[in-house]
Amino acid sequence: MDQKESTRPKLSRESLREALKIFAFVKPYRWQFIAGLVLLFLSSTVFLVFPKIIGQMLDVAQGLSPNVDLWQIGMWLVGVLVFQAVVSYFRVLMFAEVSEKGTADIRVALYKRLISQPIVFFEKSRVGELVSRVTNDVEKLYNTFYFILAEFIRQIIILIGGIGVLLIMSPRLAGVMLATFPLIVIGAMAFGRWVRKLSKERQDQLGQSNTILDETLQSIHAVKAFTNELFESRRYAKSNDSVVRVSMRYAKGRAVFSVFIITMLFGALFFVIGYGMYMVQTGQITAGQLISFVTYTAIIGGAIAGLGNFYTELVGAVGATERVREILNSQSEAEKRPANQRVVGHLRGDVSFNNVHFAYPTRSDVEVLKGVSFDIPSGKKVALVGQSGAGKSTLMQLLLQFHFPDQGQILVDGHAIDNYDLESYRQNFAIVPQEVILFGGTIRENILYGKPEATEAEIVAAAQKANAWDFIRTFPEGLETIVGERGIKLSGGQRQRIAIARAILRDPAILLLDEATSSLDAESEKTVQDALNNLMEGRTSIIIAHRLATIRDVDCIFVLEGGRIVEQGTHEELSALHNGVYSSLAKLQFEPVLG
Ligand SMILES: Nc1ncnc2c1ncn2[C@@H]1O[C@H](COP(=O)(O)OP(=O)(O)OP(=O)(O)O)[C@@H](O)[C@H]1O
Ligand SMILES: [Mg+2]
Repeated sequence: MDQKESTRPKLSRESLREALKIFAFVKPYRWQFIAGLVLLFLSSTVFLVFPKIIGQMLDVAQGLSPNVDLWQIGMWLVGVLVFQAVVSYFRVLMFAEVSEKGTADIRVALYKRLISQPIVFFEKSRVGELVSRVTNDVEKLYNTFYFILAEFIRQIIILIGGIGVLLIMSPRLAGVMLATFPLIVIGAMAFGRWVRKLSKERQDQLGQSNTILDETLQSIHAVKAFTNELFESRRYAKSNDSVVRVSMRYAKGRAVFSVFIITMLFGALFFVIGYGMYMVQTGQITAGQLISFVTYTAIIGGAIAGLGNFYTELVGAVGATERVREILNSQSEAEKRPANQRVVGHLRGDVSFNNVHFAYPTRSDVEVLKGVSFDIPSGKKVALVGQSGAGKSTLMQLLLQFHFPDQGQILVDGHAIDNYDLESYRQNFAIVPQEVILFGGTIRENILYGKPEATEAEIVAAAQKANAWDFIRTFPEGLETIVGERGIKLSGGQRQRIAIARAILRDPAILLLDEATSSLDAESEKTVQDALNNLMEGRTSIIIAHRLATIRDVDCIFVLEGGRIVEQGTHEELSALHNGVYSSLAKLQFEPVLG
């Protein structure tokens, strides 16, 4: 609803109210928060006693208050100090508990939301930027809860309390000092607005350069193989130049802001001191009172300067809150669907596509599928064949409901697939993808991904069936071998066999193999093919293969070309076709090339 708002944050009442909703995360720790606030109030109020005591000491030293002695006041001072120390200790602890636990909750909630977003969300946003939201923006909120908010409140108490004391002490002198106030406050507001805009620009720019860092480190092999280190370093340096440029503008904003505050405040302070001297000279106040007065004024000045700073920080936090809440408020994949969806157990696995048209949302002008129709009866094995980019993997993505057809319908077991409860629906699938990327943990964890509750025996059996057990056994750590980030410590074929073991463990109704044997040598391919044949028994299997030898005995082959199915039939039927797409492909692959 307020997508527009969030790109151009204003500190309007509405955005503030929206930002305050982040305090829902503080609610579980409200007692600590309230205790922290009370302690904060105490320590701030007690702080206001110091200038008074100091002034009084001077008066006593000058013999103006004969019935109090200096030692007595000294003891008072010690008492106040000890009280301050105790209160501050507990205040810090209380706020730490609120902010540490509160921000951890925010981080987890954010992650949960993120991970439940539909695939298209991730295609539209950059990973670096999302990571920065979970880290930088949440860190900003942490600072706010932990430090800024407390300081803000403290400064306000000092400001109001200090002014109150001054008005009682000497209304006239206080009036002189207060005359400069409105100017400073209004100036601070205006500056704050401007500085906040610069801060957001800096944040965005930083996000962009983090994306480069992230992407290149993740594809470090490609970077090195193409010897693009220099190119990437330049790209990163250039992006950082922009960060510095924007940051310097931000710094300049803050610098001008401080100059403004300092000049105004010191100007006012000197003026007040001068005027106070005059009042002492004419006997209207004592020297002790003047000392108290000036000390209060300095403290109030500090509070104003602090408030200006914290104000901009708080506004920055409001911006961070908006970005965080944008994700928290977004609907998850499941919530985007209508209510009362059919929860299914084990599906039979009849699949049919009816005139399916589809273009990727991020490239909506290119229609990838232009009316695809086919039926796969439950338990049958079919293959999808076609040139690279023909849309084979896309068909699988649609079947998994990563994306949705623009036209036409996909049915499983006779029902439109978007009528099923998403989670129970996807539980019926296992996929061995084109590019297997493993998680950074152990081989065991990666196999268990197919079925977290599997027993040791099931894991070993699955690994054996996938022909992965032989190589796993040769590793000194066996199943506990760490595969390295994204699985880089394993070969492509080994990764693929782990993905197959994972699929075997899952025992799906519908099996999707996207070139599952593409990284295997001829011998492994044979054994893995046997394993796959076992796995495919009794379930609907959709196989994408470039090597036609692997799909010779499937029940039906669909040939995809130009976004449509142009041929379908068994290997024999299609091979027999004259000038068929399949038969010419088969000729290329099966007939020995003489050279
Ligand atoms: N996430 C995406 N966003 C936009 N376009 C995409 C996306 N994924 C694929 N495409 C485009 O859709 C078309 C079909 O891609 P798809 O991955 O389905 O091809 P494929 O038949 O599996 O090819 P290959 O045999 O090379 O794996 C291609 O033109 C590709 O550029
Ligand atoms: Mg593909």
